[in-house]
Amino acid sequence: MKPIQTILCIGAGYVGGPTMVVMADRCPEYRFLLTDINADRLRAWQSGDPPIYEPGLKELLARILNRNLFFTSDADAAIEEADLIFVSVNTPTKTFGQGAGLAADLQYWEKTARQIKSRAHQPKIVVEKSTVPVRTAEAMERILNAGGGPRIEVLSNPEFLAEGTAIRDLLEPDRVLIGGPNTPAGRTAIEALVSLYAHWVPREKILTMDVWSSELAKLAANAFLAQRISSINALTGLCEMTGADITRVALAVGMDRRIGPRFLEAGVGFGGSCFQKDVLNLVYLCESQGLPDAARYWRQVVEMNLEQRRRFVRQMVSRLFNTLVDKRIAVFGFAFKPDTGDTRESPAISICRQLVEERARVVVTDPRALPNAQRDLADLGSAVTFDPDPYHAAEGAHAVALLTAWEEYRQLDYRRIFQNMVQPASLFDGRNALDHQQLFEIGFNVYPTGKPPLIHD
Ligand SMILES: NC(=O)c1ccc[n+]([C@@H]2O[C@H](COP(=O)([O-])OP(=O)(O)OC[C@H]3O[C@@H](n4cnc5c(N)ncnc54)[C@H](O)[C@@H]3O)[C@@H](O)[C@H]2O)c1
Repeated sequence: MKPIQTILCIGAGYVGGPTMVVMADRCPEYRFLLTDINADRLRAWQSGDPPIYEPGLKELLARILNRNLFFTSDADAAIEEADLIFVSVNTPTKTFGQGAGLAADLQYWEKTARQIKSRAHQPKIVVEKSTVPVRTAEAMERILNAGGGPRIEVLSNPEFLAEGTAIRDLLEPDRVLIGGPNTPAGRTAIEALVSLYAHWVPREKILTMDVWSSELAKLAANAFLAQRISSINALTGLCEMTGADITRVALAVGMDRRIGPRFLEAGVGFGGSCFQKDVLNLVYLCESQGLPDAARYWRQVVEMNLEQRRRFVRQMVSRLFNTLVDKRIAVFGFAFKPDTGDTRESPAISICRQLVEERARVVVTDPRALPNAQRDLADLGSAVTFDPDPYHAAEGAHAVALLTAWEEYRQLDYRRIFQNMVQPASLFDGRNALDHQQLFEIGFNVYPTGKPPLIHD
């Protein structure tokens, strides 16, 4: 195989876009191409105004756009030119047929593999960046090398970036994981990818292993993270019933060095495009391998997360005198976490839907995610309105429900908000993000998560 000169990424989404931007910045001697079937997305990238929000992304893109990073809609030509191809297409949960609701939908992945096959006139390295079930690379390898033709090596290189901190995570990853076959050609391909990352990642942080362990490690890492959130959330109801304070419990638990303090924040639970999908994918793999106990164990992580959203709404109904009919509820935050406009699987989606089922009038505010929120709730019609101004959103509301811990929401003038609400005014803090004592002193009835409520007599 000739030395690598051109690197292509298929799929310019939350992973493909930032990853190529960082690589192009750190590896100026390579030419990077990005393609996507979504023409609007490509146009936005090409204009220098990325279609996704990530702190630092726009500035970095400005440095390398049309220098050594190029966007193209001509995927066939890009495949022909590229020596190494990252595949970063979406792999959502299957909604139909076998494994519906659990397994990964690999249709985009397979279509991409067949497109690469049809255009690969030279040997190439294909790198699986999408999160996929164990043994996907093996299936892809068979498709790509079926019927002869130039040899294509398939590597697994799962991405661990988190939205909201994608650029920092890519620049300073905890580890880079590369899985590949233990054959002479496989080892050469692995070494080529290692030397790309070694431009900015210390060698000791680049782990190499077999493909299957690499694929499973990605699912396992997300399952562990999701499990920590569900574990702390599984204690919140008990805290509320007994008068214990989940923040203090988490502090004491997390100071144990074997456990550590991160990902122990109680709240309405995890969202995002990955955690639920990847845990369910693991459940499906366990089930299909005849391991029902392991499957049940991991499924409960997702069940607990869904229950936390329902419990939040149950608490709202019961605290607001057992009826939400015609009550204005201001939802502060719709993104699945701060510093992103992404709303995929955001707890806010199901919480807003449940509030509308109770016939509340819901008004949603968010600094970045309102366009996505409008799409997510389009079918609810006039039961939900959207307002970029949180003060305006809360005007005439019976309650504020804080669902995303945006820094902006810590800085608001809650006295002003309180004065314009229907009394008694309630605040449900689904992220424990605010100063509850201060809110209580202003006059709010305050309902944190996993802590005793502060209620005026
Ligand atoms: N979002 C995250 O935080 C994150 C983190 C780590 C891993 N991942 C994984 O990375 C993968 C991609 O996730 P994402 O969040 O970037 O998804 P995304 O939906 O934001 O991006 C995927 C892109 O692929 C494009 N695409 C689909 N089929 C295509 C085709 N045949 N040719 C060209 N483009 C095509 C889509 O139009 C879309 O723009 C998933 O497997 C996901 O699980 C995501």
